[in-house]
Amino acid sequence: MSEKASATPNQSEFDSRGFRNALGRFPTGVAIVTTRDPQGNIHGLTVNSFTSASLEPPLILWSLRNASRMMPVFRVAENFAVNLLAEEHLEEGRLFAVSGPRVFNPDKWLVSNEHGPLLINAAATFNCRTASRVPAGDHVVFLGEVLTFSYSTTSPLLFHAGRFFESDELLGVRDNGVGNNG
Ligand SMILES: Cc1cc2nc3c(=O)[nH]c(=O)nc-3n(C[C@H](O)[C@H](O)[C@H](O)COP(=O)(O)O)c2cc1C
Repeated sequence: MSEKASATPNQSEFDSRGFRNALGRFPTGVAIVTTRDPQGNIHGLTVNSFTSASLEPPLILWSLRNASRMMPVFRVAENFAVNLLAEEHLEEGRLFAVSGPRVFNPDKWLVSNEHGPLLINAAATFNCRTASRVPAGDHVVFLGEVLTFSYSTTSPLLFHAGRFFESDELLGVRDNGVGNNG
């Protein structure tokens, strides 16, 4: 049975929970955005707000919650790296989505990259110069000019309705949000 909910703009009280659920119906990939602070310390967080913005010039974007612990770092970062996760990176996707110190496992990360650590075997990576930061409500949208990139044909990790999925698994999703490979 499918669960349906709707909201109209003239509702006196906006249904924030329902809005989040509605946004969650859009399946996305998963990225870890990384950077380096002026002291050389490395930082990163899991995002699914990544998307392409322009081909000419090559621009991508992602958004960061104002309240994030990462905001002071990215607000001044001149460069960052975007790592699109492959199915094998589920653990990294989870690790970089919780508050607390980040561990960049050297078996999984190329930490020496100047823009920010690069994930080994990522579905794609983008080294970016911060082109602009646009305030957007409770988030800031970061536009990055892509300087260099790489990609592989590995299957991407996906996110939908609050859950991580492997590509094949998501193809079997039914309205109740439960993965079904049958
Ligand atoms: C799949 C997924 C996607 C996320 N996307 C974003 C995002 O686009 N922007 C954001 O600010 N936080 C996003 N988050 C939450 C951050 O990963 C999380 O807030 C952060 O790593 C925790 O550190 P903080 O509390 O200091 O922000 C996402 C989390 C998950 C699990």
